[in-house]
Amino acid sequence: MLQIPEHKIPIVEIKTGFDVRIFIKREDLIHPTISGNKFWKLLFNVNQYLESKPENPLLITFGGAFSNHIASVSAFGKEFGIPTIGIIRGNELKNNWQDNPTLSEASKNGMQFFFVSREDYQNKEQLTQKFLEQYPNSLIIPEGGSNEMAVKGVQYMLGNDTKDFDYLCTAVGTGGTIAGISRFAEEHQNVIGIKVVKDNSLENTISEWSRRKNFELIDADEHRYGKISDENVRFINWFYNEYQVPLDPIYTGKMMQKIFDLAEKGFFQKDSKILMFHTGGLQAIKGANQFLKSKGREPIAE
Ligand SMILES: Cc1ncc(COP(=O)(O)O)c(C=O)c1O
Repeated sequence: MLQIPEHKIPIVEIKTGFDVRIFIKREDLIHPTISGNKFWKLLFNVNQYLESKPENPLLITFGGAFSNHIASVSAFGKEFGIPTIGIIRGNELKNNWQDNPTLSEASKNGMQFFFVSREDYQNKEQLTQKFLEQYPNSLIIPEGGSNEMAVKGVQYMLGNDTKDFDYLCTAVGTGGTIAGISRFAEEHQNVIGIKVVKDNSLENTISEWSRRKNFELIDADEHRYGKISDENVRFINWFYNEYQVPLDPIYTGKMMQKIFDLAEKGFFQKDSKILMFHTGGLQAIKGANQFLKSKGREPIAE
């Protein structure tokens, strides 16, 4: 069984000219490679699995070429001595995955890859069936790592240090993180999720996991799901210079920019205290910069 580590995550204030106070909880610092929400989402899933004392334990999961989840599962496997398999979207990567920073790190962590076409990747049930037949004792973790156990694990992102905040904010991908924050938030707290993916079923999925109605979803920028805009890169670089906190271009950078935008427009109650969770994802900067530089665009400061 894996132990819940002793942890003291810093909360830092981001001084702005807005009429609210903004703070950031550096969950990205929980572990050097299994950063942010992923650590808590995985810990509970793997613990439940290990309780059943599987013979030859094995973790299998899904993800895209730059996936934070793939990076984290591979690092988790390395840290706790459990072999890992990644089912990767896009069989065009089969011959050149070594050029991809996320996959090459995951491979160094010992992850084995199976590349599948984008079409086959859509059919996760079939893939799960296939892998379970081949590896009946394995744990198949859903894409993004979100499920009931992940939601339970997220309770450790909350504690005495988060109780006084009026708003708790996070970036939303598959919804497990915000569902956990919503489930374990105090009665007086409003939970705000900044959505970075196009998925109209998210609200229902989160409600089922959270069983509460204390959250609101707001689009980061509905025209730019999964895309990196020059404006966001400039914001991330400015933010780093100003506050020395690095942000990633897919989740936390978009969340922070949107929260600044909302604060400027008076969305939050005057004088309220807002806490944003830094959910990690910084490993994706290398891959993003490879892309931005290839297009002659401004990169993210590394
Ligand atoms: C850095 C980062 N932040 C936030 C999220 C969103 O978490 P969730 O998928 O639980 O909504 C993810 C996705 O896993 C992520 O990688």
